[in-house]
Amino acid sequence: MAGEKVLVVGATGMIGGLATQLMVGRGRSVAVAGRDARELAERSSRWGNCPHRSFDAYDLEGGAALAPWAARALGGLDTVVVAVGVAGFGRAEEVTEAAAEHLMTVNALAPMAVVRGALPVLEPPGVVVVVTGAIVDRPMRATADYTAAKTALAAWLGVVEREQRDRGISVVDVRMPHLEGGFADRACVGSPPRLPRGADAAEAVERYVIAPITAGAQAR
Ligand SMILES: NC(=O)c1ccc[n+]([C@@H]2O[C@H](COP(=O)([O-])OP(=O)(O)OC[C@H]3O[C@@H](n4cnc5c(N)ncnc54)[C@H](OP(=O)(O)O)[C@@H]3O)[C@@H](O)[C@H]2O)c1
Repeated sequence: MAGEKVLVVGATGMIGGLATQLMVGRGRSVAVAGRDARELAERSSRWGNCPHRSFDAYDLEGGAALAPWAARALGGLDTVVVAVGVAGFGRAEEVTEAAAEHLMTVNALAPMAVVRGALPVLEPPGVVVVVTGAIVDRPMRATADYTAAKTALAAWLGVVEREQRDRGISVVDVRMPHLEGGFADRACVGSPPRLPRGADAAEAVERYVIAPITAGAQAR
């Protein structure tokens, strides 16, 4: 992995933070993006003062500009990881339009914008890893808007994967299982039902996020 250049969007979160930590430890050159500027700067200093840039999901142009920025900062770009998202709970008739818009923006439109901006600057054989969720395949009641957003993102990624295959860019949709770490408790609307114990986050990140990146690096 040494020398590989990677952008992690959502590096202030649990999954993005773990993925960044693992890649920095393995000699990758990393640029990181997240919403919380103070947390991002603090993490960047722990990760060797790597380049960092804050962004908000509602700024779609800003999301699309992240990969070109990272490519300039790192002198090229091989890999993009997108681990941005927010949970939301409640029966469909209980969810406000503002909350529905928020869920769609953070979980679908913003990740799409990041990937859209990354495709022209990624150097083949590049890798794009985007975390959607197991909920795409196993929707639960009281998650209609969150499920719809993740499913929209998954469908979009499926088409992009086919478009990019011949160019040598791998697009990986990670349908991450429920993890320990409190993601559901940080919901922007509603409260989670009682959930079973989640999988170990570090193990899941290694298996579902790092493994496809390592495979891409070996192909180079
Ligand atoms: N953890 C799980 O059990 C699980 C399971 C399946 C799928 N997933 C998916 O994996 C992804 C990451 O999950 P996680 O557990 O790492 O969650 P997390 O710790 O809550 O991190 C979420 C990330 O999304 C960012 N974010 C949230 N709202 C944003 C906004 N309005 N604008 C810009 N960034 C925003 C957060 O930025 P700040 O912290 O800087 O605000 C943070 O970097 C999500 O897409 C989630 O749906 C998680």
